[in-house]
Amino acid sequence: MKDKDTYKHWRLETDIDKILWLYFDKANASTNTLDKEVITEFSTIIDTLGNSDEWKGVIIASAKKNGFIAGADIKQFSAFKNDEEAIAALKYGHQIFAKLEALRIPTVAMIEGFCLGGGLELSLACRYRIAEDGKKTRLGLPEVRLGIHPGWGGSVRLPRLIGGIEGLSLILSGNTVSAKAAAKLGFVDAAVPKRHLLRAAKYYVQQDPGAHRPTTWQAMTNHKLGRSLLAKTIRHKLTAKVNPAHYPAPFQIVNNWETYGVEGQRPFDQEAESCGRLFLTETSRNLVRVFFLQERLKNLGQAKETSSIQQHVHVIGAGTMGGDIAAWCALQGCKVTLQDVEASYLSRAFKRAYALFQTKLKEPHLVQKAMDSLIPDVAGHGISKANIIIEAVVEDLSVKQQIFKEVEAKAKPLAILATNTSSIPLDEINAVMRSPERLVGIHFFNPVPMMQLVEVIKGAKTDQAIVERAISFVRQIDRLPLPILKSTPGFLVNRILFPYMMEAMKMVEENIPPAVIDKAMTQFGMPIGPVALMDMVGLDVCLSITSHIGQLAATVKSSRLYKLVEGKKLGRKTGEGFYRYDKKGKIIAATVDTDNRSLDEIVNRLVLCLLNESFLCLREGIVADADLLDAGMIFGTGFAPFRGGPIHYAKSQGIPELFQQFVKQQEARGENRAAIQDWQAKETV
Ligand code: NAI
Repeated sequence: MKDKDTYKHWRLETDIDKILWLYFDKANASTNTLDKEVITEFSTIIDTLGNSDEWKGVIIASAKKNGFIAGADIKQFSAFKNDEEAIAALKYGHQIFAKLEALRIPTVAMIEGFCLGGGLELSLACRYRIAEDGKKTRLGLPEVRLGIHPGWGGSVRLPRLIGGIEGLSLILSGNTVSAKAAAKLGFVDAAVPKRHLLRAAKYYVQQDPGAHRPTTWQAMTNHKLGRSLLAKTIRHKLTAKVNPAHYPAPFQIVNNWETYGVEGQRPFDQEAESCGRLFLTETSRNLVRVFFLQERLKNLGQAKETSSIQQHVHVIGAGTMGGDIAAWCALQGCKVTLQDVEASYLSRAFKRAYALFQTKLKEPHLVQKAMDSLIPDVAGHGISKANIIIEAVVEDLSVKQQIFKEVEAKAKPLAILATNTSSIPLDEINAVMRSPERLVGIHFFNPVPMMQLVEVIKGAKTDQAIVERAISFVRQIDRLPLPILKSTPGFLVNRILFPYMMEAMKMVEENIPPAVIDKAMTQFGMPIGPVALMDMVGLDVCLSITSHIGQLAATVKSSRLYKLVEGKKLGRKTGEGFYRYDKKGKIIAATVDTDNRSLDEIVNRLVLCLLNESFLCLREGIVADADLLDAGMIFGTGFAPFRGGPIHYAKSQGIPELFQQFVKQQEARGENRAAIQDWQAKETV
């Protein structure tokens, strides 16, 4: 063995029991990721171990505090020039992990914090996996989220270890699980508290109790007959959720498993070949782009506000948004006081919070703790104690102004004063405040627990330091902040969505059924169609926003939107809007009868509208650049991630061609060409 200091990324220590502790400490990086240099060094170490009797076993651990291994280095892996290069890199990893798996001495992966992708694949090649049973430990194979699938043996070893059903479901979802859940599934041998971690790892080396084996039933799922029966069902379920033309990777995983199983070398070769080809697809390139956009938002506001300080958040308004914002903040460890005009309004919010805590936290004592940190506060006592006050009452300027007059007088001098308004410019709300520079927009999206994006809005008078603190707060509650540089109506996401939704309304007026419009856009890749989205937001809210954004002004009274609101059919919350809803809030099936050509026309009209507004926002400097705009639309609306965001999509299709189509459409409707602003203007892209 080389001297312990000769490795750049690995530190070797031998203890008195002749166990080799192999610490991964990637040089010049805060997080451990696997790249060619790292695994080449690892390979040399494994070769030496294989040729020596010096050690009784090896324990692989991380020397970094934040986690075990975050996965392969995405930058390196997204730079492959062709399939061959990608396949060769994957096969190289296979060879090294196969050597690790074949070592005669016991091998243990000692996992603390994240253990993802290539990191989990490395640990699956060890004989044992011991994980710290803590909040930060998460294990999973999230590769599908990058448009690929596990490529270093994970798609073979995981189903082999725990059966096809559980193994595939983890890989197909890309979800991560806790140490305890991983132990229950069988791919972690022991989930132990931190204080027992080292001892447990040593125990497995010294006692070598035998590698985990799947149950008979789990093993049967991997037999040829089991695979072909199960693959059919899995594919059927998958097709209901994802379009194989947009997201081929999950289907490839099922095909590989069904055809080649989990035994011998062939499934590994197939894994490398199909994963290698996926790297070069447009979908994967765009999803990698989305990953880096997300990293960019995550890095905003970091370390500006110490996360150890428990935030006291006071939320005013316990409706759809306020109730969920309060619950989310409590879930993230804040103390929350929730205010509404009457106690009875609070009860629904508390019921929803309880359901959220149960889903997310599962363990009764954690649910109780979260419930205890959420306090009803009709009198608004929390205002004078909170570090941050978020207003989420009805979208009415005078009500909001009244609230901020009162809040400003009572709040602590350093408290952040924030509004969740969807459309009212901050400078109208703060017009009544003595210190208008204190007001910032913190605009969540509906439903709060699902939508990662939060727009942080700077009004003309808002103090930049407050904006930055608001951004840090958003990171603290684990959401993605998007800095909005100007408080113009609709900010970014709603402003871009509204012309698109209004175009959909025009189509409804033209007697195109809502279900057809929505089908066209979900086929394009949107998570929800524009009409169903309006029902979800609430038609009253939509109508109110249209009055601020100024769309549909002339026709509004005769429109179906106006009539529905007048008839108190406000969308999902009242059981009826453009659609009718069952008790669980699901749309009562609307049949769709159309051909693909007319769907394409609908998509074309709607997407061009959305792009037009996107380019206008860039030109006006609503956000700092095109990437931030794309990030906003992806994380705020679910804009087809595999298309990489609206501006990226426009670039990929050719901006001049799309613009010409838009101009033609507008002219056909009598728009004056001079009024149509060019998308190509230099400053916009
Ligand atoms: P909502 O109508 O569900 O809830 C408003 C709540 O505020 C009600 O419970 C009401 O009793 C309470 N309220 C009214 N006046 C109050 C006062 N003076 N003091 C305390 N509580 C008072 O409305 P929703 O949908 O939650 O919207 C709230 C705000 O969030 C609006 O500004 C809206 O534009 C914005 N927003 C709404 C979104 C949505 O999808 N619904 C998305 C993002 C922002």
